[in-house]
Amino acid sequence: MTTVFVLNGPNLNILGTREPSIYGTDTLASIESDLRAQALPHGVDIVFRQSNHEGDLVDWIQEAGQAGHPVILNAGALTHTSIALHDAIKAVAASVVEVHLSNTHRREPFRHHSFVSPVATGVIMGFGARSYTLALESILSSNVKSNS
Ligand code: DQA
Repeated sequence: MTTVFVLNGPNLNILGTREPSIYGTDTLASIESDLRAQALPHGVDIVFRQSNHEGDLVDWIQEAGQAGHPVILNAGALTHTSIALHDAIKAVAASVVEVHLSNTHRREPFRHHSFVSPVATGVIMGFGARSYTLALESILSSNVKSNS
C-alpha cells in the first residue's frame, strides 16, 4: 500500500470556524498535515481532498477504488442523504473507513442514519480531529487492507 485517499464532503472546508463547540477549532489544513506526518514514516502518501459537491466525491471514490487505494471518508451531511455515495463505495469495493468529528448518534435524529456505514469497513466518530488519525492508524496497521 502506498497511497491513502482522505475525502471530505460539504462544509468541511470551513472547519475551524464552523460551530467550534461541535467540531472543534482544528482546521482541515491542520488535519491534513497531521495525517501526512503520521503516514510519512510508513512510506505512505496521502491524497487529501475536499468538495462541497456530491459528484466530486463519487468521482474520487471511483478513482481510489479503481486504483485499489483505501479511503478515509468524512462525507459530512451527505452521509445522511447520499445513495450515490453508498452505491459508489459498493460498486468499486473500496475499503472505506467512515469518519466523523462529532458523535452523530448524540445529535439530531436526522444524523443517526448513515448511507455510508453499511458499505464501510469501519466507522470512527466523536473524537474530533483524532477520528482521522485513528482511522489512518487502523489502515497503517493493516486492519484495512489495500487491494493493490
Ligand atoms: C460530520 C457530521 C455530519 O452530520 C455533519 O453534517 C458534518 C460533519 C462530522 O464530522 O461530525 O458536516 O460529518
